[in-house]
Amino acid sequence: MQNTLSGAHNQSNGHAAKADTANGLRALFVNELKDIYWAENALTKAIPEMVKNATSEELVAALTGHLEETKEHVKRLEEVFSLIKEKAEAKKCEAMAGLIKEAEEIMKSTEKGVVRDAGIILAAQKVEHYEIATYGTLFSFAKTLGEDKAAELLQKTLSEEVGADVHLTEIAEAFINIEAMEAA
Ligand SMILES: [Fe+2]
Ligand SMILES: [Fe+2]
Repeated sequence: MQNTLSGAHNQSNGHAAKADTANGLRALFVNELKDIYWAENALTKAIPEMVKNATSEELVAALTGHLEETKEHVKRLEEVFSLIKEKAEAKKCEAMAGLIKEAEEIMKSTEKGVVRDAGIILAAQKVEHYEIATYGTLFSFAKTLGEDKAAELLQKTLSEEVGADVHLTEIAEAFINIEAMEAA
């Protein structure tokens, strides 16, 4: 690996390479924070659309509850940016934009009722899994970079994403899959 960082003080030992890696990891961390910041903001607009399209009371309640958590996730990310002394900036997350588009297509192509509800759960769980993967990684990065307070906040959000995912599975298993079958 080429060292570009330590200039005159570079003794070309392992230290410089280590500093390179730390800086590279930090840049990746910040970049990924911007990505999920965009994604969470986009979700505060996408989840209400899912709520409007859902019919099951349990699903509406789950999505509404998670919308409130999502708004909190946006604020928590702003706190993380401030903790690591970076400006809170959003960078378009193509993956989340795609998942939201997919959700819209599912809602358009299904009839309102249990089948659309099942589709909304499917789409919402894809979203949650993306978030879980992202926050899991961001948590590890923050720990590695010694940003313990940021790590704590990221872990809080991570556990809420996991909770939302588990809850959606429970709703799906409890009745939607069965009702969708009966409606067919
Ligand atoms: Fe979130
Ligand atoms: Fe979420």
